[in-house]
Amino acid sequence: MADIRHVIEARRSVRRFDPRPVERDKIRLCLEAARLAPSAENSQPWRFLVLDDPDRIRDFSSRVFSGLYAPTRWAAKAPVLIVILAELDFLANRAGKFITGVPYYLIDVGIAGEHLVLRAESLGLGTCWIGWMDMRKARRFFGLPRRIRVCGVIAMGYPDSSVRKKTKKRKALDEIVRWNGWGE
Ligand SMILES: Cc1cc2nc3c(=O)[nH]c(=O)nc-3n(C[C@H](O)[C@H](O)[C@H](O)COP(=O)(O)O)c2cc1C
Repeated sequence: MADIRHVIEARRSVRRFDPRPVERDKIRLCLEAARLAPSAENSQPWRFLVLDDPDRIRDFSSRVFSGLYAPTRWAAKAPVLIVILAELDFLANRAGKFITGVPYYLIDVGIAGEHLVLRAESLGLGTCWIGWMDMRKARRFFGLPRRIRVCGVIAMGYPDSSVRKKTKKRKALDEIVRWNGWGE
């Protein structure tokens, strides 16, 4: 089992995939990792709609990655698309957000999605979070009820052999961390 530090450091967004399908058992292991994530009030708002049928992926992609969202068309060639949804709970989300101003469900699905992504990395799978897509068309494509929100997609598959792991461009710790106060 790969250690967590190695998995975190090795993960990169992958946008070119080997066309071979991903075993459902492996997809399930990733979903299981997402299931174990923490959430506000333990409300577990995440829902996952898994597309691993190439025809469904093509139809879905032609709707949600078109026009303004055409830069995301690469995702049509991913062997798996996992649509990240949230089913809003009254206490944690509507009441909680009203009081604190924080939409907790977005934090919750973000944590769950990253659990999924890191587990995928540990299994040799590449992933990429997708936020640049037509959320309304995605909702219509699946006929989702109003209480379900579309939060994004995670593309998944075995990385194409041409994928090179670039060094991560990240801000230095000094830029993002302040100790004991904002100090301006
Ligand atoms: C919430 C979220 C949305 C993203 N949306 C997209 C997207 O629509 N298209 C895309 O190509 N990459 C998308 N990304 C991937 C980021 O571009 C990528 O994580 C970032 O550039 C850092 O690179 P790395 O993941 O390889 O470390 C998204 C990432 C996150 C976390």
